Amino acid sequence: MKSALGAGLGALLPEVSLGQADLRSARPQEGDRFVIADGERKGAVVKLDDIKPGAPPLTVLPQEPASGTVRDGSRLNQILMVRIDESRLMGDTKARAAQGVVAYSAVCTHTGCDGLSWAAEQLRFKCPCHETEFDAADGARVISGPAPRRLPALPLKIADGYVVAAGVFTGRAGVISP
Ligand code: FES
Repeated sequence: MKSALGAGLGALLPEVSLGQADLRSARPQEGDRFVIADGERKGAVVKLDDIKPGAPPLTVLPQEPASGTVRDGSRLNQILMVRIDESRLMGDTKARAAQGVVAYSAVCTHTGCDGLSWAAEQLRFKCPCHETEFDAADGARVISGPAPRRLPALPLKIADGYVVAAGVFTGRAGVISP
């Protein structure tokens, strides 16, 4: 009886760890919270108050809410989050924002670089590799440079003071091979 139970549990273990790996590498899902990806506050769950108007973007990772699993199993889950004066947000971007907070994939759609810099005056992300500029107030459309498409956006809402995903990415994160 004992050995049968042990064998049963053993058989379950690979499924449990596979599930965990899947959670970590899955793209952000509706209802996910976010944690700060680096720096002194790495791992802190992101509240609306953490995203200050006028401050540079935070790099965050989604967190599956039921288990608390941080989705850090893929670099395509890096997200840039920044708070913009709502009067400057355009069309769909305004609808996807939560109190001015907008979120985009942090991976350039050209050849997949990350580490995008921020031009606060123009509200643009700028890729360090080949200098594509993306308009954060207008769905991260390409302003200039070789990237073939926008950075995918992630719709947001605020729940209990936390920033929460209100849906999934508007497109595929990263590079799409021809
Ligand atoms: S990888 Fe971003 S512009 Fe080339």
